[in-house]
Formats: sequence, C-alpha cells, structure tokens
Amino acid sequence: MDSFQITGGTPLRGTTFVRGSKNAALPLMAAALLSPDPVTLDDVPDLADIRNMRRLLIALGCDIQGEDSCIITAGDIPSPHAPYDIVRTMRASICVLGPLLARLGHARVAMPGGCAIGPRPIDLHLKGLEALGAEISLDGGDVVARAPGGRLRGATVFLGGSFGSTVLGTANVMSAATLARGTTVIESAACEPEIVDLASLLSAMGAKIQGAGSPRITIEGVDQLTGAQHRVIADRIEAGTLIAAAAATRGDVVIQNCPADAMLAFLHKLQEMEINVEQVSGDALRADIRVRADGRPKPVELTTQPHPGFPTDLQAQTMALLTLGDGHSVVTEKIFPERFLHVAELARMGAQVFRQGPTAVVSGVERLVGAPVMASDLRASAGLVIAGLAAEGTTLINRVYHLDRGYERLETRLTDLGAQIKRIDQADS
Ligand code: EPU
Repeated sequence: MDSFQITGGTPLRGTTFVRGSKNAALPLMAAALLSPDPVTLDDVPDLADIRNMRRLLIALGCDIQGEDSCIITAGDIPSPHAPYDIVRTMRASICVLGPLLARLGHARVAMPGGCAIGPRPIDLHLKGLEALGAEISLDGGDVVARAPGGRLRGATVFLGGSFGSTVLGTANVMSAATLARGTTVIESAACEPEIVDLASLLSAMGAKIQGAGSPRITIEGVDQLTGAQHRVIADRIEAGTLIAAAAATRGDVVIQNCPADAMLAFLHKLQEMEINVEQVSGDALRADIRVRADGRPKPVELTTQPHPGFPTDLQAQTMALLTLGDGHSVVTEKIFPERFLHVAELARMGAQVFRQGPTAVVSGVERLVGAPVMASDLRASAGLVIAGLAAEGTTLINRVYHLDRGYERLETRLTDLGAQIKRIDQADS
C-alpha cells in the first residue's frame, strides 16, 4: 500500500493543469450503454475509479479502446448484470442502472454498500426509476429492475431528499428517460455541472433534453440514440484542491483549465479569506487562474450545499487551509453530515478543530507540524496533503490509494510546483 512522504513548508510556485473531471466522466461512460454505436470521450482522466468503470463496462460486454481519448462501443450487452465485486470498489457503478434498464428493459446491479463519508442510500435513484414504470426488487444484494413491456414511460419525477437532490440519481433518471416512451419532467433535479455535461453528451447522441443545470429537467423520449464525441469538462474539485494547496503554502501558482464558472462559491470564499485569486486568461469554462497568498487566510463561515453552493467535495481541503487561518472559522457540512474523518488526523498535526454534529469550529493556528496520518476517503486525503505541504517537518500519509481514486499523479504535479513529496510503497516504508 503506497504512502506519501511530504516535507512541508515550501511555497508552491509555477504552472499546473487541471484534468478532465472524474465525477463527470463516470456517468458519461455509463451513458455509452444507451447506444450500440461508438461514443468517444476526450480528456478522460487516468484514475482508479475510471479504471473500475472500464472494468465494469467490459464485464457488461462493451468494447473500449484508448485511454485519455476513450471509445466505448456497447454493441451487444449479453448480460446486464453489474456484479458486487466491481460495484463494491466504486459506488458510482450505480450509474449503469438507468442506461441498462432504458436500453434493454431489464438490469441487475449490485447494491452499493456504505462508505467512509456516510450511509449513501440509493432510494431516490430507485424512486425515480419506479416513477418511470420500472418494477424493482432486491435479490441477493442486487437491485433487479424491469420495465414492463421492455420500455420505460415518461412521468413527472421528484428527486428531492433530506439532503437536497441527488447527483448520480439525477444522472440515472435523466439517462433512463432519454429512451422512455413520452415526456419526463425531473423536479428538484441536481444542478451540478456534471449533470449539464451529461445532458450535453446525451443531446449529442440524439436525446431531447431541456433545462439541465436547473432544478427542472424535461426529457422527451426518443426511440434510439446514436454515437457521439464529447470532451469531458475540467475537474472543478481538482482545480479547487490545487488552489487550496497553493494558498495554504503561501505560494504563487497559475492553474490552467479551471472551470471557473462552476467554482464561484469556492472562489468567492477564497476572496473572503483575502487570498488573491484572479483569472489571467481563458474563458469561464477553461480559465487560467493565478493564486497568490502571502499570509494567513482570514477566517470564514461556510456551509456545504448542492450546486451552486459550496461543494462538499472541497470541504476537507478548505478546512485544511482554514486550520492556518487568522481566527475562528465555522464549517457546516449539509450534504454528508458525517464527512469529518479528516478532523482527527488534522488534530495530529496541531490543528484546533472542535466538531459538534454537522458543524466544526476551526481555530486557526500559526503553524501545523508534520506527523504520520491516515487517509480515510478521497477528499479527506486531499485535505491531509494540503496540510502536509503547509506544515513544518515531515508528514507521512498512509493509504493514498484513496487519493489515486480521484487525482491523477498528484505527487508529480505537486513536485513540478516545488513541493517535496514522494510516493513510497510499503516495502520502502
Ligand atoms: N441521498 C439520499 N438518497 C439517494 C441518494 C442520495 O438520501 O438515493 C443523499 C446522500 O446520502 C447525500 C445527498 O443525498 O446526503 C447527496 O448525495 P448524492 O446522491 O448527490 O451523491 P452522489 O451522486 O452519490 C456525487 C459525487 C460525490 C459528491 C456528491 C455530492 C460522483 C461519482 N460522486 O455522489 O463525489 O460528494 O455527488 O456532490 O459523482 C467525491 O468525488 O469525493 C465524491 C464523494
């Protein structure tokens, strides 16, 4: 199992580049199941989760060529069964359910289990598909879904839950509705940029979709979809992570290919922290953002919310930055109220964080001190990397496989910015 050894205290300097979005690419890859024709996706990141999705699509019968530019052909799908041994490695496997059911009229997908950031149910996905006429049962831990007569039918579907809408649930229902008979209206749809990106691929494949990016999406079902080519949007969470790392180390970094328009809540918080962030070139979808920081961030209050609010996937990284803030910050997690596994690890490095329920009060300290810490989930691990880069001394982060799920060669890119970070495998440690 690999670890990262980081000797902190060096301000990051230079230029780096954001890759295609993992959370956009996963449902886009699943959407290729909707057509027998080839779907080409450009700028697919090379990540453990993407490799798992490839493995799943191949197990379902797809042919996949290329990596960064990836051509997926879902000719025949002999057995629409997503087995537990793949699903358990990646919850996002659930997004094959809608496309399989819509195209073949039946599907069997292992029910994803819990994960480090909370229980993560799929009731809204199933409720949405049931509204489209699917009959759903549970058999041996698998969700078994069937469309009577072999085809789903359009309906009005409400996808709001106690924690807001559901991103992958919206992806599942929207994808399924493209081939349903009649019109579907998704109310309380997720507004995340990844949903807009999926709608854009589906439209290029011949789907009729309006309103993606708003809480009401209307889909007029068609009889079949064709192949298409599509470039995955840039990863707003990776961009935010790199920006937070630059700010925490009091560096000066230009981050190219940032989807600035999709990051307004995060960028606004940085401005409140009095961190200098400016767009130096590019456009709102692919901007070059320069980050400069030379002191401690000002404290802020932030609450994670569905898009366009502050993203839960940047909460841990932002908290790592705020541990060095000049005062008390308040961080409230409204999407995954248990997503605070990084708090105890940050405390090992000298951070002062008091958590009560979904809220953490972060009392900024002048310095963090390196320590051995344990990565627990993808974004918590990214928060620990940021803390390690800013801390005095050496930080050893164990279990970085969590990071490899969502960041492509992060250590190489940080090294290029002057960080002292190296990957060591267990045999070396
Ligand atoms: N929820 C339900 N019922 C459902 C589905 C969700 O109650 O059927 C709840 C969840 O428990 C949570 C909230 O609704 O409290 C939002 O969950 P959502 O379904 O939106 O999450 P997701 O679609 O499973 C995606 C990202 C996550 C990201 C969330 C929220 C992917 C592959 N995953 O998950 O990304 O945190 O949206 O923005 O797109 C990550 O990249 O580290 C990550 C966890």
